[in-house]
Amino acid sequence: RAEVTAKSLALSEVMTKACDYYRQQLRSADTAIQYLKRRGVTGEIAARFGLGYAPDAWDSLRSVFVEYNASALAESGMVIDKSDDEGAHRKRYDRFRDRIMFPIRNTKGQVIGFGGRILDQGEPKYLNSPETPLYQKGLELYGLFEARQAIRDAGYVLVTEGYMDVVALAQLGFPQAVATLGTACTPTHVQKLLRQTDQVVFSFDGDSAGRRAARRALDACLAHVNDNKIIKFLFLPVEHDPDSFVRTFGADAFAAEVQGAMPLSQFFIKEVSGENDLSTAEGRAKTQFDAKPLLQQMAPSGLRLQLVRNLAQITQSTAAEIEALFELSQ
Ligand code: CTP
Ligand code: MN
Ligand code: MN
Ligand code: MN
Ligand code: MN
Repeated sequence: RAEVTAKSLALSEVMTKACDYYRQQLRSADTAIQYLKRRGVTGEIAARFGLGYAPDAWDSLRSVFVEYNASALAESGMVIDKSDDEGAHRKRYDRFRDRIMFPIRNTKGQVIGFGGRILDQGEPKYLNSPETPLYQKGLELYGLFEARQAIRDAGYVLVTEGYMDVVALAQLGFPQAVATLGTACTPTHVQKLLRQTDQVVFSFDGDSAGRRAARRALDACLAHVNDNKIIKFLFLPVEHDPDSFVRTFGADAFAAEVQGAMPLSQFFIKEVSGENDLSTAEGRAKTQFDAKPLLQQMAPSGLRLQLVRNLAQITQSTAAEIEALFELSQ
């Protein structure tokens, strides 16, 4: 146990030093600054999120860490070890090269990982820190540390997919935004958010991946939502994400989208009815079948009762029949 603590400390020091270094590098990185400017990112907002730049070199972190070979550096994921074919000589190089760096902080504000975006085109578009003892992807939300006060002030949190969505929303008047970072929204994410606020508005990309993310978020919410929480889903036009939408149409238009976001109850009905033909017995039975695993995860609550009633209505059943059919606990 003592060993784990010591290791975590060393790791957090590596991350902090790397973050400071990348921030400092950004000041003189003209191409990176041009790239951020082209995307409308101001210096002020870049500073708020601690954005940086990883130089276009294989071992620039050598200048930060005298002990470039220390095991904590590999464990942090900031360097990658590669053996040659015989495994005799180990070569070590920086994971992040020629990328815009987004530090990921935990709720205490410690840097625990990074996302690195390539300038303009190239693959992979984003490179992320691997999981380490400090950083577990299913637990952390990008921007939560920076957003905490704003979430309290606004009374809700916006949950997006990406780094740039959080940065753009904060810059244009929605600092209450966080991101799940490519991974699905987990029940742990939901619990974490519901500890901070009574209202969650999911705002994923308008494309099919974003729609799938919304569906997974619905699944992740059901076990944890209770009757004093409100969950909503905001669906953007297919070609937009929150970053492009708010920059194209402005803050008022985005605020209107938030205002018009779909309540969980409505999204639930939409998802379970899906392509099913409710004018046929088979379509209604299938709708109930699709709703069953969702309702079964829910604790008995007023919201569950409302969902059951809405389902009963569209499937020509009664709430009591559905509760019996699904063996819902009371
Ligand atoms: N992502 C990732 N690796 C990729 C692509 C995406 O980790 N190769 C994660 C990033 O956290 C990214 C999020 O998934 O922010 C959403 O992906 P996408 O919509 O493709 O990226 P954007 O954030 O919209 O990126 P940008 O606006 O910079 O093009
Ligand atoms: Mn996307
Ligand atoms: Mn809309
Ligand atoms: Mn996107
Ligand atoms: Mn984008």
